[in-house]
Amino acid sequence: MKTSFSGIILVLLIQLGFVLSYKEYLFKTCSSSGFCHRNREFARNVQRATNFVPQYAIDPKSVEVDPELYVIKGQVLKHLAQLGKSVQLPFELTLLDKNNVRFQIFEDRSTAQPKNALVNTARYNETTKWSFKTDQVTIERVKDEKVIKDENHVSFQFGKDGKYRAELSYSPVRLVIYAGDEAQLVMNDNNFLNYEHFRTENENSKHLSPYESDFDMFSESFKETRHDKIPMGPESISSDFTFKGFKHVYGIPEHADSFNLKDTTGSDLPYRLFNVDIFEYVPNSRMPMYGSIPFLLASKPGVSVGLFWINSADTFIDINKKHEKDTSTHWMSENGVLDVVLTVGERPEDINESYGSLTGYVQLPPLFSLGYHQCRWNYNDEKDVLNINSLFDEHQIPYDVIWLDVDYADSRKYFTWQPEKFPDPEGMLKELDITGRNLVLIIDTHLKTGYSLSDTIREKEITIKDSENKTFVGQCWPGEAVWLDSMNPASQEFWDEQHALSDENTFMGRFSTNFYIWNDMNEPSIFDGIETTSLKSNLHYGNWEHRSVHNVFGLTFHEATYKALVKRLESTERQRPFILTRSFYAGSQRTAAMWTGDNMSKWEYLKASIPMVLTLGVSGMPFAGADVGGFFGDPSKELLTRWYQTGIWYPFFRAHAHIDSRRREPWVPGGSYTSIIRDAIRLRYALLPMWYTSFFESSQTGVPVLKPTFYDNLNNIESYDIEDQFYLGNSGILVKPVTDEGASSTEIYLPDEQIYYDFTGGCISNRSYQLTEPGFITKDVLLADIPMLLKGGSIVAAKNRYRRSSHLMANDPYTLTVALDKDGDASGRLYVDDGSSFNYERGEYLYLNFTANKTSIASTAENNSAFAESLGNIKVEKLQLLGRRDITEAKAECDGETWNLSFKTEGANTIVTNPKLPVNKNWTVHLQSDGSSQSAEEEDKPKGALSSGLLVSVGAILASSAAALKYFSIL
Ligand SMILES: *[C@@H]1O[C@H](CO)[C@@H](O)[C@H](O)[C@H]1NC(C)=O
Ligand SMILES: *[C@@H]1O[C@H](CO)[C@@H](O)[C@H](O)[C@H]1NC(C)=O
Ligand SMILES: *[C@@H]1O[C@H](CO)[C@@H](O)[C@H](O)[C@H]1NC(C)=O
Repeated sequence: MKTSFSGIILVLLIQLGFVLSYKEYLFKTCSSSGFCHRNREFARNVQRATNFVPQYAIDPKSVEVDPELYVIKGQVLKHLAQLGKSVQLPFELTLLDKNNVRFQIFEDRSTAQPKNALVNTARYNETTKWSFKTDQVTIERVKDEKVIKDENHVSFQFGKDGKYRAELSYSPVRLVIYAGDEAQLVMNDNNFLNYEHFRTENENSKHLSPYESDFDMFSESFKETRHDKIPMGPESISSDFTFKGFKHVYGIPEHADSFNLKDTTGSDLPYRLFNVDIFEYVPNSRMPMYGSIPFLLASKPGVSVGLFWINSADTFIDINKKHEKDTSTHWMSENGVLDVVLTVGERPEDINESYGSLTGYVQLPPLFSLGYHQCRWNYNDEKDVLNINSLFDEHQIPYDVIWLDVDYADSRKYFTWQPEKFPDPEGMLKELDITGRNLVLIIDTHLKTGYSLSDTIREKEITIKDSENKTFVGQCWPGEAVWLDSMNPASQEFWDEQHALSDENTFMGRFSTNFYIWNDMNEPSIFDGIETTSLKSNLHYGNWEHRSVHNVFGLTFHEATYKALVKRLESTERQRPFILTRSFYAGSQRTAAMWTGDNMSKWEYLKASIPMVLTLGVSGMPFAGADVGGFFGDPSKELLTRWYQTGIWYPFFRAHAHIDSRRREPWVPGGSYTSIIRDAIRLRYALLPMWYTSFFESSQTGVPVLKPTFYDNLNNIESYDIEDQFYLGNSGILVKPVTDEGASSTEIYLPDEQIYYDFTGGCISNRSYQLTEPGFITKDVLLADIPMLLKGGSIVAAKNRYRRSSHLMANDPYTLTVALDKDGDASGRLYVDDGSSFNYERGEYLYLNFTANKTSIASTAENNSAFAESLGNIKVEKLQLLGRRDITEAKAECDGETWNLSFKTEGANTIVTNPKLPVNKNWTVHLQSDGSSQSAEEEDKPKGALSSGLLVSVGAILASSAAALKYFSIL
C-alpha cells in the first residue's frame, strides 16, 4: 500500500502540473518539430525559387514492368549537387484491387552506421502488416498492353472500361490520377517531394540542397525533449498532393475540428497525427489527439478521391485552400518509407469501399454494444455496481453495459481485484446477466512494477525497451510501470493466457461470457514521458525505434486483446468480442470501437462531438462516440439532457465522468429532465434494428454508419459544409441534435426537394416539409424535442417496447413506418442475426427488403437460413403509413393466404393495427384508396383547413429559407 500511495501522490502531482501548463507548451508545433520545421522551410524555399531545379528524377532506363506481378519498378535518383552524385531510391507502382494505386519509394540503408548500434537501420516498412486486413492485398493485374511507356512517362488505365488512368512522369517526379482526361489528384505538383537520405553528421553539409534547412537534424531542441539522440539523423519523407477542382476535404482524424478540413497556411499548427493523451483537449484545434488515421477523402460532383498515407511515425499535414479551385496538401512524416495509396471513384462511398478493401471494414459489433453504456471513474464496489443496475430498472431506463475504470484493480494492478470491494466478481457478473447485462473492465498496456505479471513480461523480454535494450520504466496510473510490447509476437501468447477461460482461479478464468474489455492509455500514455508518451528512442521488437511505430502501437495492443478474447471459446461457440480503445490507427475498425477521450462538460464540446464522429465515420472508423455529459466537470441539467439527446446518435453511446465529477446517472437530474433522458435512451433502443442494419452495411461496404448530408446530395455543393446534422445510415432518418444552450428553435437543412416528414423524437406527426430548392427550415424546439425528419422514400423498422436491455428485445415485434417519396415510392432494409456469434459469416442471418408504393407494401427476404427459420414468431405489429388518409381497404398476402387488415386514420396518417406479418417470410400488403391522399403530383399548394398556428409556421419557414416552400401539408 505504501508504494501505491506514493504512486498516487506522484500521479496527482504530475496531473496537477499538466493542468497548470498550457497545452501548446507541452506539445510540439511545426516550428519546434525538427522534420516539420525543415519540410515547411523546404516547401517555402521551393516556392520562392525563381529557377527551381528539381533534385528528384526517375531514371528512364530503370523503369520496367515486372512480368510476374505487373508491378512497375524503377529508381528515383536524388541528385546531390555539391557531391556531384545521386542517391538511388527504388520505387514501385502497383494497382491494387478496387482502384487503389499504390506508390512506394524505398531507401537501402543496410550499410548505414547509426549513432546507436542497437537500432534497426532499415526504414520501417511494416505499418501495413498491422494496418492492412491481410498481408496479401490483391494486386490487380495491369495488362501489358495497357501500360504505356516512353522516355518521359509510364502510365496505365484502370477501373471499369478503363475510365481512370495513372501516369507517372520522370522529371520532375509526378504521379497524376486522371478521370477521363481530367487530372484529379497530383502527387508532387508543387515539388515538395523530399526524402532525407542517410548521411553522417560530419558530412551533412555536403548533402544539403540550397532549399533545405538543417534544423534539428541530429539533435532535438524542443524544451521538453530529453536526450533523444536521433540515431539515424534526418530521415523524414514528405510530398505535396493537389486535389484538382476539390474545395472539400475530410478525414485525417483525430482532431477536435470541423468536418470539412481547414486551411492551415500561416498557422504553426498544421493537422498533426501523433497519438497522445491530450486530456481536456481544445475544440477547434489541429492539435494531435489519441488516434491517427492518415486517410483523406475529397469529393466534388461526379468524382471523389482518397489518399492513404501509410506511415505510423509522427506526421504533420498542411492544407492550403487559397487557390481558387484546388486544395493542395503537404504531408510530412518523421521517418518510414514513402508509401501512399491514391484512389478514385464516382462517389464518396466508392472511396470508403476502396480504403476498406485494404484496411478492412468495421467489425459487425455484438448487438448489445449498440445499446447504452453506463460508465464513471469509478463505480466503487460490487454493491455500487448492483445498486446502479437496479436503479435503471426502478427508473425503467434500458441499458446494456456497466463499466469499471482503473480503481476496481488492487493498486491498479490489472488482472487483480480490490479484494474487500469486489469479493465475488463472478456473482456480480451473474447478477448482471439475469437481465442480459454486461460488464466492461479496463485493462491498460502498462503493468505496475513489482508484481507477478510485470515480472513475467520482463523475464520473457516482451516489454518496450529503452534505447539500450533494457526494459523501459515510466510513470502511469499504478505509479512505476513497464509496458507490454504488443508488437512482439511472443506477447500474444502471454496475453492469451491472461484472458483464457479456465477452471483455475485466474483473474478472468472463470468468468462467464458477459464481460468485455476497455483498452485505455495505449498511445501509450506515459505521465513522465515527452508529450505524455513514449520516448521516440525506445525500442520495440525487431529493434525498431518507437519513432517509427508510434501511431500504430495502440492498434497492436487492442488487436492482441481481440485475438485473446476470440480464443476463449472453441471455434463453434465463439462470440464477437467488444473492445473499446482510446488509441487507434487505420485498421483499428476491424477489432475495436473508440471514443473521443477526455472532453469537458461544456456546450462547445457537445457541439464539437458531431463533426468529430462524422470525420471518424468517413475515415473507416464509424464505431465512435464522445463521453455523454463530458468527462471533466459537472454539466447543467439542460446540458446533460441535450447531451443524451445527441449521444443516442453516436454509434458508440456511453456516459462517462471523472472521479471528481458529481454523480449524474440519468435519474440524478430528476423530474422532467429524467423523463426526457429516459425517452431519449428508449428511442435509441427502439431504433436498434436500424443501427444494427447500418453497422451491417458498413461492415460489408465501408459506408459510414452516420451518413454525412452531402453523401446523398453530391450535386448540391452547399451540403458539403453541413456538419451538425446527418442521416442514420441508409434509414432516411435525418437528425439535427440541439447543441445550443437555451435553444427555442433550430434550423434544419433540407438538402434536396424531397418530402421530409416530421419525425421529432421518433414520433409521427401531421407535418411534412418540402422545398423547391435546398435550404433551411426553422423548427421550434422544447427541451423534450429531438429534431428528426424522415425522408420521403424510406421504410423504417423499430422495436417500440420497453425492455431492460437489448438482449431482452430479441423476440419483440416490429413497427414499420412507411414514408412515400414525391413519386409515391419507398424502400428500406432490415438486417437481423443472433446478435453475438460469428454464424452470420456462414449466412445465418436475415436481410430484408421492404418496398412500397401507393398500392402495396412488400417484404422480400434475401436469405433462408436456419437462423431466419428460428424467427418464426416475430411479427410486424404495426404499420404507420405517413401522409396517407386515403386507404379504403388493406389486405395481407403471405404463403398463399390472404387476410383483411384493420386500420385507422390518425391525423394525416394511417395506422394498420396488428397486421401479424411474419418477419421471416415474404409478404405483401395490398392497399386500396379513394384517391384523396395528398401527394406531390396532385398538389402544388397548401390544402385543407389551415389553422392560424400553421400559418405562423409557414411564415417562419419562408422567412428563414432562401428557397420557396413548395407545399406544406397538415391535416
Ligand atoms: C535486445 O534484446 C532482445 C531480447 O533479449 C534481443 O532479442 C535482441 O537481439 C536485443 N537487440 C540487440 C540489438 O542486441
Ligand atoms: C520490408 O522490407 C524487407 C526488406 O526489403 C522485406 O523483406 C519485407 O518483405 C518488407 N516488408 C513488407 C511488409 O513490405
Ligand atoms: C433487395 O434490394 C437490393 C438493392 O436494391 C437488391 O440488390 C437485392 O437483390 C434485393 N433482394 C431481394 C431479396 O429482393
